[in-house]
This record gives sequence, structure tokens and C-alpha cells, in this order.
Amino acid sequence: MAISTFKACVFGNPIAQSKSPIIHKMFAEQFDLPLEYVKREAPASGFVESAEVLFADPEALGANVTMPFKHDAFAWVNSLSSQAERAGAVNTIIRTKNGFIGDNSDGVGLVNDLLNHNIKIAGAKLLMIGAGGAAKGALPALLDASISSVHIYNRSHQKAVDLVNYTKEHSQAYISVYPRQTNQVKALELAEQTTPFDIIINATSLSLSNQLPALPDTIFEGCPAVYDMVYLNQDTVFLEKAKSLSCKTAIDGLGMLVEQAAHSFFLWFGKKPETREVYKYLRAISQSA
Ligand code: ATR
Repeated sequence: MAISTFKACVFGNPIAQSKSPIIHKMFAEQFDLPLEYVKREAPASGFVESAEVLFADPEALGANVTMPFKHDAFAWVNSLSSQAERAGAVNTIIRTKNGFIGDNSDGVGLVNDLLNHNIKIAGAKLLMIGAGGAAKGALPALLDASISSVHIYNRSHQKAVDLVNYTKEHSQAYISVYPRQTNQVKALELAEQTTPFDIIINATSLSLSNQLPALPDTIFEGCPAVYDMVYLNQDTVFLEKAKSLSCKTAIDGLGMLVEQAAHSFFLWFGKKPETREVYKYLRAISQSA
């Protein structure tokens, strides 16, 4: 059957705030692709039914998945990419002749945004703050990008240890492909003396409630690159703090949002959209909001 319009959506709950339809519309225009991309709010325990409704339409080529459905999507798809398997979550579903593939573009989005900001990842010493889904989703792509070491700091230390163990366990399955992973991820004890970090990433959502992680200022002082996965209409408290402590580059998560969308688009269409103008447009509308 010839497809006249490609259909895709983002599933979430809530979903009203999502900027994904704006982003994918701009990407599709770059290639003159007839893409209809909408937001779909699935009921909290109704992801599977919602996915089945979408894909009953033969023109539906895929979906993005956001909170709280990334684990439901992980369980629903027929097969997983390496990124999704190691992230333990799916944010992109791709329909193929052989069933639904679950992938995860979050980590690639973060890596590409860091690179867009000229942050050197290969060989860098990274501090990841947080050990929830956002941290777990980002780690595989950071490790693939040859980060030299990752320390994970989390309010609940045991959860940081669990994430380290999960990452090491899953890296073993890919040991021949990612041989540097096994000893490079550590949970950080606050009292532990560490050499300065090259990149600090806040993978908690604390900035949404104007809160800071309980870390000493010395960890941030002079850090060349600080990243907050949250984005707001103005600097987050985390970025304000970093700037006040002379961190050279302090970036929020808006670019990650655009880059993860670009990677999802690539997974569906095999085409890499230009992201710069989309990022600039979103920044402009968020600042004028
Ligand atoms: P997400 O999928 O967005 O990562 P999550 O899996 O619930 O959400 O993880 C939230 C992260 O933010 C966790 O690392 C959490 O720390 P705990 O594991 O100790 O709960 C962290 N977090 C949330 N609220 C916090 C707070 N008030 N102070 C410190 N850390 C907090």
C-alpha cells in the first residue's frame, strides 16, 4: 500500500507540554516529508492499548515515548536496540516489516548536544548527579562516546551503586564492542576525594522545583562544562550556581530535547535533520513565553 502521510506521535501522561510535534514538523519540512506527528495522552495503565490503536493505522511508522511509559514500551516492543537494552528503557518505537523495534535516543541526544557546544567528551571525567531513569538512559551513549570515567552521585547512595552494577553487568554483554566500560563507572561517596571533573551533568529533575543537589561548591569550582537536563524559560538554579562558581560552559537540556528528536527522526527515515534552527526557534519562543 502506498503511504500518503506518515503518522507518528509522542505518548506520555501528561503530554500537553510536549514540544515534540513542533520539532518534528520542522524536521519533516526540511525533507518535504508528509509527516503527521501528534501528542497522545495514554491512560496511566493503558500504554499497550494506546500503542495498538496507533499502529492499527498502516500509515503509522513509529512513536516517541515519554514519562511514564518508557518501561511499558520496553516490555511491549518485539526487539530492542543496544542503546535501549542498556538504557533499560525505550523512547522511540520503529515499525518494521519484522515487528516493532524499541530504541532509545536520549543518550545520543545528550552526547550530540554536548558536542554541539564544543564540549570534549572523549577522555573526559564525568560526574553524573542522579541515578534514576534519566541517568540510566544517558549512560550507554556517553560510554560509547569514550568518556574516560563516570562517577555517579545520588541522594540515595545504594541507588547509585545499583546503577553502577547494572551498567557494568550490561556492558559485559557488549564487552567486545565497548571494551572500556567495565571499570569506568563508580558510585561517588561524598567524602571521597576526587580529581576535578571535566563535565558535570544534573540528571535529576530537582531544578524543576528550584532545588539544588546537596553537593559542596568545591565540586563545581572551575568545572569547564556543566549540564542540566532540565530546561526552563530562564537559567535553572543549578546553572546559576555553576556560573557563580566560574564554570565556563553551563547548558540546559533544550538542545538534548532537539537532538534526541533528531535521532528518532533518523531512526524512522534514515535522514539526519539540521537541528540548529530548530533549537534557536525553541529558545526564542521559550524566552518570550
Ligand atoms: P527520572 O526518570 O526523571 O530520572 P526518577 O527515576 O524518579 O526520575 O529519578 C529521579 C532522580 O532525582 C533520582 O536520582 C532521585 O534521587 P533518589 O534516588 O535518592 O530518590 C533524584 N531526586 C529526586 N528528588 C530529589 C531530592 N529532593 N533531592 C535529591 N535527589 C532527588
